[in-house]
Amino acid sequence: MKVPKIAIIGGSGRMGIWFAQYFKNKGYTVVLSARNREKLIAAAESLKVNYAKNNEEAVKNADFVMVSVPIASTASIITELAPHMDRKTTVFDITSVKGEIIKTLEKQSLKHGFKAVSVHPMFGPGAKNLTGHTIAIVPIKGSEDAAEKLGRIFSKDGAKVVSTDGKTHDRMISTVLGLPHFLNILFGKALLEIPDALPRIKEFSGTTFALQLLLTECVFREEPELYSEIQMRNKEFLKFLDKMEGIFSELKEVVQKNEKIEFSKIFEMVREKLIQDTDYANAYDRFYQIIEILKNRT
Ligand SMILES: NC(=O)c1ccc[n+]([C@@H]2O[C@H](COP(=O)([O-])OP(=O)(O)OC[C@H]3O[C@@H](n4cnc5c(N)ncnc54)[C@H](OP(=O)(O)O)[C@@H]3O)[C@@H](O)[C@H]2O)c1
Repeated sequence: MKVPKIAIIGGSGRMGIWFAQYFKNKGYTVVLSARNREKLIAAAESLKVNYAKNNEEAVKNADFVMVSVPIASTASIITELAPHMDRKTTVFDITSVKGEIIKTLEKQSLKHGFKAVSVHPMFGPGAKNLTGHTIAIVPIKGSEDAAEKLGRIFSKDGAKVVSTDGKTHDRMISTVLGLPHFLNILFGKALLEIPDALPRIKEFSGTTFALQLLLTECVFREEPELYSEIQMRNKEFLKFLDKMEGIFSELKEVVQKNEKIEFSKIFEMVREKLIQDTDYANAYDRFYQIIEILKNRT
């Protein structure tokens, strides 16, 4: 059987390198492309894969083209490269926010005759492999077969593949990424208001603070460029922010006015929602299991 070729645009970036290793392990011929030559050559040499002179050269004769550049550049790169794609090629982006990208993939694939899929790996470059990780797939009109094929490749390697549309994707991502990122940035920013240094604060730390700090520190280990785009480019998240402002004012008023009954009512309402989660009943035990792990490591 012919060895498939995949071109990874943005191949020197974090996800580009991750997927280059993944496809190399599967036996594909991998070609990387990016702007900064030094970084590109270093990535290609350490992965022992090929690199191209430019994006155009990379996509020549490729069976797959993965676009793994910052969200803001993805649509323009797809449009720029579209006339150079082979008809057999399946092009897919991996952006964390879909928005205009779905329309661009649809328009360009229909115009130039290649296949297109929109993909979102719900994990970062720290993942060991695909096992147990979710990959969202948005099929593109006219290329539904390519979405199924790509989904099968990932699910064979243990990924949980979820098929969705662009709008649902962005609404869900605003909840599962935008919201927790925002809350952790809020927590981090609030810490700036506290004059004591963190080691001093930690001397007083209970279990909730320990776990919250861990989460916040993980968020701040990430790159602000990606995190800002996840919030600022997702229209669904921007709409949600207005609601958040209302929730904040409501809670603030309840606390400041000492309204205990209203406080309990809100607590109960939230509890009703959380009970729908099958992990809710075990949450307390699981929380303490994590705390034990943290204790043993310090
Ligand atoms: N990081 C995550 O946890 C994560 C998770 C899921 C999905 N994603 C998605 O994955 C994509 C890439 O994210 P990342 O974290 O890997 O970003 P990254 O580390 O900043 O990498 C971006 C890559 O794109 C290249 N690039 C930028 N503009 C380019 C252009 N015009 N032509 C060719 N290459 C270009 C960069 O290299 P040069 O600057 O040298 O060109 C670099 O190789 C984003 O769409 C993001 O939403 C990220």
